[in-house]
Amino acid sequence: MEILHDPISLRKYVAQKRQTHSSIGFVPTMGALHSGHISLVRKSLENCQLTIASIFVNPTQFNDPNDFLKYPSTLDADLEMLIHAGCDAVFVPQVSDMYPKGVESGKNVMDLGYIGQCMEGAKRPGHFDGVIQIVHLLLDMVQPDILFLGAKDIQQVKVISKMIQHFQLPVSVVTVPTVREADGLAMSSRNMRLSAQQRQIAPQLYKTLNSISNMIGKEEPSVLTKSYIEYLNQTSGIVVDYLEIVDSQSLMPLKSWNEKGQNLACIAAFLGDIRLIDNLLF
Ligand code: PAF
Repeated sequence: MEILHDPISLRKYVAQKRQTHSSIGFVPTMGALHSGHISLVRKSLENCQLTIASIFVNPTQFNDPNDFLKYPSTLDADLEMLIHAGCDAVFVPQVSDMYPKGVESGKNVMDLGYIGQCMEGAKRPGHFDGVIQIVHLLLDMVQPDILFLGAKDIQQVKVISKMIQHFQLPVSVVTVPTVREADGLAMSSRNMRLSAQQRQIAPQLYKTLNSISNMIGKEEPSVLTKSYIEYLNQTSGIVVDYLEIVDSQSLMPLKSWNEKGQNLACIAAFLGDIRLIDNLLF
């Protein structure tokens, strides 16, 4: 696997490979890789002739500086996993490579509208501005045909897709299903920070989403979310940040149920200072 440390080597590598490879798949990550990331790499390997991943903990998308400082870093293990998966190349830049004019330069890439303002956008001001800033830069450097993103961050997928449409970038987005632990907990780099006790209660998030999906048509969405928030907040160790049942396209909260398959339940909750998110489409 080729390890590329700066944008110039990346651009040279891509230009050279373009001559012999008709399709490039790109998997952007912030490292601390797990099977969820590897499923994105596998999907890219299945669909594209060349697969490039990136590992970069992007400072501009952390609204909480503590979250940034505590974000896990496991570079050696990440590289091993990517080699094992068969990834062709990985881009591992420094902050100064991505933001030579400083991290605040060019942060407001575009107005994202409601899909950027609700849920994660409301709870983590500036987060999506940072996400589209870095993804825009990475897409410009990698010039992939397909961008592979995980469904766990479904709002991020929508925001990035909107940015791609806005700039008419020649890349399509493939959303890969969330990979879960045996007890249903969505895989996340943040899971490695959970204590043994927090790890035990963390699957409650997915259980809640499943219970909600079983109540479709039986109770109004807003009544359900209210009672599940109360229930979860009584569970020791969990503080719900939001729980919403929204339209899967517009992300607007549902007053009544959609057709089957278009209802999206989204949750964010704190377990101590660790914030986990999950969602379920039903
Ligand atoms: O989902 C992530 O890991 C990040 O938000 C991304 C897409 C790599 C941008 O930094």
